[in-house]
Amino acid sequence: MSPFAYRNGLLHCESVSLADLAAEFGTPCWVYSRAALEAALAEFHTGLQGVNALVCYAVKANSNLAVLDVLARCGAGFDIVSGGELQRVLAAGANPRQIVFSGVGKTGAEMEAALAASILCFNVESASELERLDAVAGRIGKKAPVSLRVNPDVDARTHPYISTGLKENKFGVAYTEARNLYRHAHRLPNISLHGIDCHIGSQLLDPAPFAEALDKVLLLVDELVADGIALQHVDLGGGLGIRYRDESEPSIADYLQPILTKLSGRKLKILLEPGRRLVGNAGVLLTRVEYLKPGETKNFAIVDAAMNDLARPALYGSWHDVLPVSRRDAEARTWEVVGPVCESGDFLAHERALALVPGDLLAVMSAGAYGMVMSSNYNSRPRAAEVMVDGARPHLVRRREAIADLYALELRLP
Ligand code: LLP
Repeated sequence: MSPFAYRNGLLHCESVSLADLAAEFGTPCWVYSRAALEAALAEFHTGLQGVNALVCYAVKANSNLAVLDVLARCGAGFDIVSGGELQRVLAAGANPRQIVFSGVGKTGAEMEAALAASILCFNVESASELERLDAVAGRIGKKAPVSLRVNPDVDARTHPYISTGLKENKFGVAYTEARNLYRHAHRLPNISLHGIDCHIGSQLLDPAPFAEALDKVLLLVDELVADGIALQHVDLGGGLGIRYRDESEPSIADYLQPILTKLSGRKLKILLEPGRRLVGNAGVLLTRVEYLKPGETKNFAIVDAAMNDLARPALYGSWHDVLPVSRRDAEARTWEVVGPVCESGDFLAHERALALVPGDLLAVMSAGAYGMVMSSNYNSRPRAAEVMVDGARPHLVRRREAIADLYALELRLP
């Protein structure tokens, strides 16, 4: 059930109209629903009832402290990819024992910070990273808990930019080399082998590749037992897709069922790293039409949000539904919904049938994941405010940047 629905012709988030939010907080503005975040996480937890499992939210999808706080309060762990994300989740009150650290390029300083915080596990992606982690841990007198991220070489059948489990991708340790690297890691003095990890891609709408990857991972787990290496957990990464347009979205139960079947009877804890599925449809980007510019071949609706706010359409050609906040009883025209940024690639949506007048509010849907986190200050545009709605109450959870914030860190020559 989407938290975004029309009431009396006005689009609402939970019980608050988006028109009221625009009046109070201005546009462009990100709007998140607390109930939707909680419901999405609860669906995972329900599916995992009675199973030794931990859902580690992939912070990169939306790292606002309020989002992290809501999820942490409901028992989520976190999947982080940088020292910045580590500091954020700790600031949001996360339990360090529920944090896994992914990513191909962890620096020594990031490793040290995560070791000092006593996180649950490092998902190590290469032999050289393993050596560095061993050295850093030795230097500060700690043992580093490790999973190797293996690359199971399965095709996630998703957009090439967000497909990560094929052998030509930069991620993970090659499947054929993983067993040897585990044996080597087993001998390192400051490494403690805890688990095995994979992540095959993002926005997967077919659950089959997850099961395929798990089969390959479990094969390795069994080989490692023969080598005297007993692992405690399997981390299957994130990647479960959402409906942006008319895709059929696999249910969380359908996604979990084959995974749990394959794991039953094994003493392995299961870790999952969903990002998009928890936050994607819990958020929208609220924007206002500044100008209408009908033309000979195309009609442009120029809005106050742009590619610097929501980069996904420009970057991946992604589809986001665009809904009018107030339904207008007039004939629709076909519009290109574009921003003010000086690039032809600055569009939010192509060819949308909308009845518009200047000043209208539009909601760019499914923008809760990889929205604000990927926004920039291109064209010296302040990043938008973020608001979280909780029932009938809106909360400002990030103030709009002021122009002075944009150059506050810059220095002129003496
Ligand atoms: N775990 C790892 C190791 C990851 O690399 C990712 C996403 C996730 C978990 C979470 O995946 P999710 O459940 O959200 O699919 N910017 C792109 C998506 C990039 C995903 C990167 N990795 C987009 O806007 O579609």
